Amino acid sequence: MKLKALVALLSDGQVHSGESLAQKLGVSRTAIWKQVRRLMDRGFEVASIRGRGYQLVSRVDLLDSAQITDQLDAALAARIDLRVRDEVDSTNAEVLRQIDDGCDSRLPICIADSQTAGRGRRGRSWQSPRGENLYLSMGLIFHGGFSVLDGLSLVFGVAVAEALETLGVPDVGLKWPNDIFLPAGKLGGILVELQGELQEGVVRVVVGIGINVHMLKAGGVDQPWSSLASACPDTEWSRNRVAAAIIGAVADAAETFSSQGFGVFREPWQNRDIYCNRLIQAKDGELKGVGKGIDESGNYLLGTLEGGEVPIRAGEISLRVVL
Ligand code: BTN
Repeated sequence: MKLKALVALLSDGQVHSGESLAQKLGVSRTAIWKQVRRLMDRGFEVASIRGRGYQLVSRVDLLDSAQITDQLDAALAARIDLRVRDEVDSTNAEVLRQIDDGCDSRLPICIADSQTAGRGRRGRSWQSPRGENLYLSMGLIFHGGFSVLDGLSLVFGVAVAEALETLGVPDVGLKWPNDIFLPAGKLGGILVELQGELQEGVVRVVVGIGINVHMLKAGGVDQPWSSLASACPDTEWSRNRVAAAIIGAVADAAETFSSQGFGVFREPWQNRDIYCNRLIQAKDGELKGVGKGIDESGNYLLGTLEGGEVPIRAGEISLRVVL
């Protein structure tokens, strides 16, 4: 018996007797009891009500590939290879395996309920608790060699910000190069990994996106953070809906970037720049200046006290506000 089938039956929040669950799923009552224990081990809150049955007390927001594809534009839905997984090491790594397995010419996409080795920028790990957040990766191909990729990670930041805005999230900001911010702190991050040239000029990129959706507490996160649920508590957040919006926006942005280049993304990026006109530092304080937005290649411009502008290249540098 699939755990998902049991959760689906319990997801109405009503009390269900062990007998009726067993009947509907074609298993014994003991099997139901064992599966309820498994659900509880996985963090679901299931009340066992004496003489009556079981009731799911915690929120349920299951990932479901059909619900995601149903919300996509039909043409896009037809050209993706979507894997929804319970647990993976990293969705970026899973997309690479998906490509190795052969996904024809379809767009490989992986979404997981949890990651055991979620990766962040600059070699950091990305906390990926089960059922709480969105962990999504897409494999994309670009023509024109590595140099065309300048600014690409900023393009994905704009796409994710726009997707969230269409879902009604206010005040979405971008922190260079591609962190997604809300006023209370970091909402999500983007990890772009280059997979090398497939043939001359043809480059494969895996873009991994992590968005805090339901998370209301996080141990060990060393900076202010936010989640969709804490920022917009009146919305019933569905990870399938957030995933569909982001997949659509990233696929569109990748096409626009391929046909028109980075230039068209510059203004939408600047409009959300959280460091604009703030005193910031790079390279652990070696460089200080005022945030001046990005140049035509996506480098961040630091206005120096002497009146010049120093471009900061992406890669491993990060910017911080000077306190
Ligand atoms: C950052 O450091 O801000 C980037 C975080 C990117 C996390 C996402 S979660 C989905 C994908 N899989 C990973 O292992 N990392 C990215």
